[in-house]
Amino acid sequence: MQLFENIDFENITDTSLISNKEGIVNELNKLIESDDIYYIRRNLNFIKEYDIKNQVVDNYSNFQNDIEQIIKTFTLERSKYYIKRLIKSIDGEKTSRINDIDLNKWKQYEDIITDSLWVLDKRDNAGAHNGNYWGNFIPQIPNQFFRRYTKKGDWILDTFLGSGTSIIEAKRLGRNAIGIELQENVVQIAKDNINKEFNKFNVKHYIIQSDCTELNYIKELKKIGISKVQFVIMHPPYWDIIKFSEDENDLSNCKSLNDFLNSIGKLIDATTPILEKGRYLAFVIGDKYSAGEWIPLGFYCMQEIQKRNYKLKSIIVKNFDETKGKMNQKELWRYRALVGGFYIFKHEYIFLFKKV
Ligand SMILES: C[S@@+](CC[C@H](N)C(=O)[O-])C[C@H]1O[C@@H](n2cnc3c(N)ncnc32)[C@H](O)[C@@H]1O
Repeated sequence: MQLFENIDFENITDTSLISNKEGIVNELNKLIESDDIYYIRRNLNFIKEYDIKNQVVDNYSNFQNDIEQIIKTFTLERSKYYIKRLIKSIDGEKTSRINDIDLNKWKQYEDIITDSLWVLDKRDNAGAHNGNYWGNFIPQIPNQFFRRYTKKGDWILDTFLGSGTSIIEAKRLGRNAIGIELQENVVQIAKDNINKEFNKFNVKHYIIQSDCTELNYIKELKKIGISKVQFVIMHPPYWDIIKFSEDENDLSNCKSLNDFLNSIGKLIDATTPILEKGRYLAFVIGDKYSAGEWIPLGFYCMQEIQKRNYKLKSIIVKNFDETKGKMNQKELWRYRALVGGFYIFKHEYIFLFKKV
């Protein structure tokens, strides 16, 4: 296709007109008023060539790709539609009620995952994060959710705080947070970790030592001076896979699968009233293997939550590599799998729900 026969840049002779963002936006707005697709293409090409040299627009490579796409568009109507979208991406901000993602610049958020398979190979050890606590999750999990489902200044609740990963991440991202943890010594570990993180956005955080299934959340929030949180993250023990303590209220000490699921149900009932309507809950869990049988703990918990006031939005499958328990036992587990006719766990689930 010949797009630029008789190229003539007479319509934009003065490059000073497009030497800043406002100028480019003005010129693009002028193009929308034209009904001559060749005129539009010529001028778009001119703007693009100028920007390649001068890089006026913030994300110039996306900008140039967008212009390229418009130039290749066949109809006038479509071209104008794309130009309007391009103007918004340079000029305006479009955020939603639940996050700070500027949808007009959506191409710039390349690291926000939108696929349901999460293959994350390296733990983020930035800031105060460290992988020392047995049974922690990688910071990328809270990071992805907090950026996608909360705004700066929102409140996050983590009912199984452990070593404090989600509060560290909340601090790094400018979100307030509340964490619940059963064990006193683990609360201390969390506090030490969290205090190492610089409070760049001056956010608040509270740690409550308690059985999260028994806590009166409405009362606790009142003490803090809020009535709702905007996101809940739960990373319970995967029943008895790792025994976290001797405490009988520790979910890793539940006597049976039913006990475990009842506790999860009780926890959901206790926390649902303080989660703002239309906001999200992420539930992180893996399955277990017992007496020669795969126990789909994840799906059982998912069903427990589905009985309540939530809409299932996604089932995310996340990889994990060697757990500390299986470290240096790769060969042995491979042998066991071959003998036992099963597959070795390499994934866990994150069930994402929206409160209706
Ligand atoms: C899987 S770990 C969470 C790890 C955390 N995400 C992190 O990155 O460190 C589960 C935690 O829940 C705690 N726990 C177990 N039963 C609990 C209960 N009933 N209430 C509160 N915390 C509990 C355990 O002590 C353990 O620290």
